[in-house]
Amino acid sequence: MKQKHLLSLKDYSREDIEEVFDLAGRMKADPKAYARALEGKSLAMIFQKPSTRTRVSFEVGMFQLGGTSLYLGANDIQLHRGETIADTARVLSRYVDGIMARVFTHQDILDLAKYGTVPVINGLSDLLHPCQALADYFTLRERRGEIERLKVAYVGDGNNVCHELMIGAVKLGMSFAAACPNGYEPNPLIVKSSARDAQKARTPIPVVTSDPRAAVAGADLVYTDVWASMGQEAEADSRRQAFDGYQVTSELMAVAVQEAVFMHCLPAHRGEEVAADVIDGPQSVVFDEAENRLHTQKALLLLLLGQR
Ligand code: CP
Ligand code: NVA
Repeated sequence: MKQKHLLSLKDYSREDIEEVFDLAGRMKADPKAYARALEGKSLAMIFQKPSTRTRVSFEVGMFQLGGTSLYLGANDIQLHRGETIADTARVLSRYVDGIMARVFTHQDILDLAKYGTVPVINGLSDLLHPCQALADYFTLRERRGEIERLKVAYVGDGNNVCHELMIGAVKLGMSFAAACPNGYEPNPLIVKSSARDAQKARTPIPVVTSDPRAAVAGADLVYTDVWASMGQEAEADSRRQAFDGYQVTSELMAVAVQEAVFMHCLPAHRGEEVAADVIDGPQSVVFDEAENRLHTQKALLLLLLGQR
């Protein structure tokens, strides 16, 4: 792997992503073979926001590879008292072999990579969530084998998860359509740069619409996420109104292809962005996605930390 960090899949080539997928597949099939692969290595995990999946999958992942991890809640370290991200990165780099961080401002991820000397993994920022997209497209590949030319439909908030799925779809040669209410569309800079990347790679240009049925028609994967992300709790009520009509229901799933799967990064709110009978129904693969966070991140950790 020629990459040093995972800040966004935007920096990865299709070959880089496939390298992660191939290794993740081997590690999932035979986890014991990698039990000492990161022996003696440590990962610092900075969390400015809560987490179930990201925290547990990275912590257990490092343990299963023979290494160790440190949970650093924002209030536990001196960041809380005004120490800069730059100094935090420089200091942690003297102790650990990698830094995974979940932050509010994407700039913090960029600064960790700029001022630290060890690999940095983005465990979610306000803008991007690359570890999630890796696990999601690995899960789709497990189901469908070849995923090039499949159609991904995202319904709901044009948020961090939507951005990274769009970027990943372009890299992997899939078509991508997002249906978002007015005012909640994905970041126009990300949409533009994805369109440019798609044009260069001669893969389909991502589409943004306000019509969920148009986005989901013929889709192989239907995806949604919460309407109010972490940090937007105060907007929850107004968002519930703005997203009226954007729930993924079984009627909406019916316009996707017959073998379409439903995904959600979790945590989910049944009755808001998704109907209970969809997320708990036969097309839902949400717990496979959650499990695959572990396998894909173990592969990533080995590729990034193992080569140093
Ligand atoms: N999907 C995801 O990142 O979950 P957590 O917030 O629980 O880590
Ligand atoms: N968009 C959500 C994803 C949580 C995993 C958030 O940022 O809160």
